[in-house]
Amino acid sequence: MRISVIGCGYLGAVHAACMAKLGHEVVAIDVDERKITELQAGRSHFFEPGLPELLNEVLQTGRLKFSSDIADARGSQVHFLCVGTPQRKGEYAADLRYVDAAFSSLVDSLEAGNLVVGKSRLSRWEPQRGSPMTWRNGSPRQASPGTLSSCGKVSPSRTR
Ligand SMILES: NC(=O)c1ccc[n+]([C@@H]2O[C@H](COP(=O)([O-])OP(=O)(O)OC[C@H]3O[C@@H](n4cnc5c(N)ncnc54)[C@H](O)[C@@H]3O)[C@@H](O)[C@H]2O)c1
Repeated sequence: MRISVIGCGYLGAVHAACMAKLGHEVVAIDVDERKITELQAGRSHFFEPGLPELLNEVLQTGRLKFSSDIADARGSQVHFLCVGTPQRKGEYAADLRYVDAAFSSLVDSLEAGNLVVGKSRLSRWEPQRGSPMTWRNGSPRQASPGTLSSCGKVSPSRTR
């Protein structure tokens, strides 16, 4: 299966490498070009034992690619959102600006039937967070393993 991973921090970079190890075709995307350059060269910008070795192994297979262009998500059947959700200063709430920005940039690359999976940590993934795309009424929604997020299928009527 071809998948995209949006956000290549601690969560996304490891997730992308593991999905490629499992045999999927993975494009991993981040707005930070410096991180993309490092990861594409098989180097991790954070300490995670075994990650550089895994990166080099799967990069050699050609199943994992890193990109700073969100348009490269087009053609993937499943999109994992792995951007940060830091705590808002002085509040007991998450700052969701990165989630909203990632959704907005991804929407032009979505095709009917694509699955968007929120892996960013939220107490509950609100349906309106998918705006301007919508979740199809009655589509299956489930917890993403390891997070409290949910996922949904993209409505054919709202994709371009
Ligand atoms: N780190 C963990 O072990 C862990 C575990 C479970 C859940 N989470 C959750 O996963 C989410 C990500 O955590 P993290 O530790 O990887 O954060 P992080 O800050 O290390 O990585 C987030 C990445 O998203 C990128 N990004 C921001 N906006 C973007 C956009 N519009 N398009 C593409 N990339 C964008 C940033 O450049 C950054 O590289 C958070 O919600 C966190 O709570 C993290």
